[in-house]
Amino acid sequence: MNVYEAVQSRRAVRGFTDEPVRVDVLERVLSAAAWAPSGSNLQPWHSYVVTGAPLEQLKKVAVERVAAGEPWDEREFQMYPPQLVSPYRERRSRFGRERYTALGIAREDWEARQRAAIGNWECFGAPAALFCFIDRGMGRPQWADLGMYLQTVMLLLRAEGLHSCPQMAWSQVRKSVEEALTPPVELMLFCGMSIGYEDPAVDYIRTMRAPLAETVTFVGDVD
Ligand SMILES: Cc1cc2nc3c(=O)[nH]c(=O)nc-3n(C[C@H](O)[C@H](O)[C@H](O)COP(=O)(O)O)c2cc1C
Repeated sequence: MNVYEAVQSRRAVRGFTDEPVRVDVLERVLSAAAWAPSGSNLQPWHSYVVTGAPLEQLKKVAVERVAAGEPWDEREFQMYPPQLVSPYRERRSRFGRERYTALGIAREDWEARQRAAIGNWECFGAPAALFCFIDRGMGRPQWADLGMYLQTVMLLLRAEGLHSCPQMAWSQVRKSVEEALTPPVELMLFCGMSIGYEDPAVDYIRTMRAPLAETVTFVGDVD
């Protein structure tokens, strides 16, 4: 698989089989992903890989909390600006529409949407997950480093025949994650990531991208 194929075949998969993911494969992926760039080579990412009984227990705790309607944990960062402006607002609406259409859920069916959202804390059935933390003292450039690292992980997973879904949803129950993983106090959770083999029986709509001209400006000679 070349890099283009890895980039194009990566998507947020929301249905995994229970086929176990070998830890030596994850070690290989994470060793290679450590070559991701970071400003001044700070390598500000801290990953916890969770499988087996500890993951099942964490899923159970999180799902029970969400299903019981417990409030989200106090936020350490905002997932999105409170007032999304154009064109982001439209992109977000389109994403929501497509996601629920793929699941056959009507827009106004709040309960069905909630049930679908709970899939997040079941890791969509995945038998492995990665939780990525960052030191609270780090700034925006280091958060960008985390993004580069996480994308590198996801592309390498494709090279291993694996799929993934990055999930900020885990930050909404971050205290349960912290209780399970007991990271050093200076670390805060950015996101989780479900990892596993795709279940081909789960329907989805491929999330499209804006035309290049909307997001890229070429300056200079372009023949
Ligand atoms: C930082 C980050 C957090 C995300 N959080 C979630 C999440 O909590 N739940 C989810 O189902 N998808 C989540 N996604 C997946 C996005 O919805 C998805 O990447 C986007 O819609 C583009 O679709 P694609 O990745 O399938 O191409 C997240 C993606 C990123 C990069």
